[in-house]
Amino acid sequence: MLSQLLELARPALFALDPERAHTLTIQALEKGLYPRGQQPDDPRLGVTVAGLRFPNPVGIAAGFDKDARVPDAILGMGCGFAEIGTVTPLPQSGNPKPRIFRLIRDRAVINRLGFNNEGHVAALQRLLARKSRGGIVGVNIGANKDATDRPADYVTGLDTFYDVATYFAVNISSPNTPGLRDLQAPAALDELLSRVMAARERQIAGGRPNRPIVVKIAPDIAEEDIAPIVERLVAHKADAIAVSNTTLARNRITDTDGGKEIGGLSGRPLFHRSTAMLARIHLATNKAIPLIGIGGIDSPETAFAKIEAGATLIQLYTGLVYEGGGLIERIKAHLAGAARAKGLSSIAEATGRRAEEWAARPLDG
Ligand SMILES: Cc1cc2nc3c(=O)[nH]c(=O)nc-3n(C[C@H](O)[C@H](O)[C@H](O)COP(=O)(O)O)c2cc1C
Repeated sequence: MLSQLLELARPALFALDPERAHTLTIQALEKGLYPRGQQPDDPRLGVTVAGLRFPNPVGIAAGFDKDARVPDAILGMGCGFAEIGTVTPLPQSGNPKPRIFRLIRDRAVINRLGFNNEGHVAALQRLLARKSRGGIVGVNIGANKDATDRPADYVTGLDTFYDVATYFAVNISSPNTPGLRDLQAPAALDELLSRVMAARERQIAGGRPNRPIVVKIAPDIAEEDIAPIVERLVAHKADAIAVSNTTLARNRITDTDGGKEIGGLSGRPLFHRSTAMLARIHLATNKAIPLIGIGGIDSPETAFAKIEAGATLIQLYTGLVYEGGGLIERIKAHLAGAARAKGLSSIAEATGRRAEEWAARPLDG
């Protein structure tokens, strides 16, 4: 009943400015107005990544809950994990509005938010208040736009949230903070990861548990730069790699006017490139580092394709804008059915089964 009501509300949301619609969605979730997910999950959906047991591999991607307002609603909708952020040490208002655009025909979104968020203190207070509820809640950390020492902002993020984050996602791939993606260059990555990993070592030496560190990368990395970047991620023992953030490319869109907006493109047109990149990284790491597959998942079939291309966990955002929250349960039902039909005891056994095929496809194809 509730989910039917929310389905009815979607056309109304589409009549609104996208950012306003998003604010209303978050407010509805804060009030508990969302379709409840199936509990418990089919055991075939359980996956273990970096020592964490995920009840199912489906999550909502960063940027949906920037200020940690609704992690429990995300879990309650049936997600196996939630990820809040990106959070920066100081509050930031981001770029001038409007700064989110729907490309409806293409089932895509362009955003140039620029890390608008209320800062560490506000998110920390919310996460402390819900800490006893458990569940896997990752914190996606970033740097303030005018930080003079960007790696220091990531270290502050790790130290600030260490007691409330189940894992960290180090976001060096937003296209909307000028220069942020330069942190993906091998030398910059070395410095950043040395400092972030050292901060984690200090936490562990102080008696805290190990918290996995995921590095989230852009889909716009050139073919020849993939291997050196992966080499640095392996060398620094990143626990997982999230592939990918939004793209600056404008391939596969028909709304060429909408496509002129500056910012990161997400949704269906991103699916091919982010999946081809995911498969390349899966093979480049010798299948040794678990991957979070993100980009253009908007159906049960695209979710399963991400897993077969190399993902152990998956996240989506734009697909939810167009399909609604019911998509999460539809994906889970499909994954459980596929595992059953193929005789797999866990969906993780499907990871990378078609990586070679995906990696052979051109990135821009
Ligand atoms: C409105 C919007 C805001 C986003 N904000 C963030 C963010 O703060 N941090 C981040 O790592 N990714 C952010 N993303 C990127 C998503 O997490 C995801 O990587 C990307 O949208 C591709 O997935 P999708 O095609 O399923 O949307 C944002 C995406 C959108 C559409």
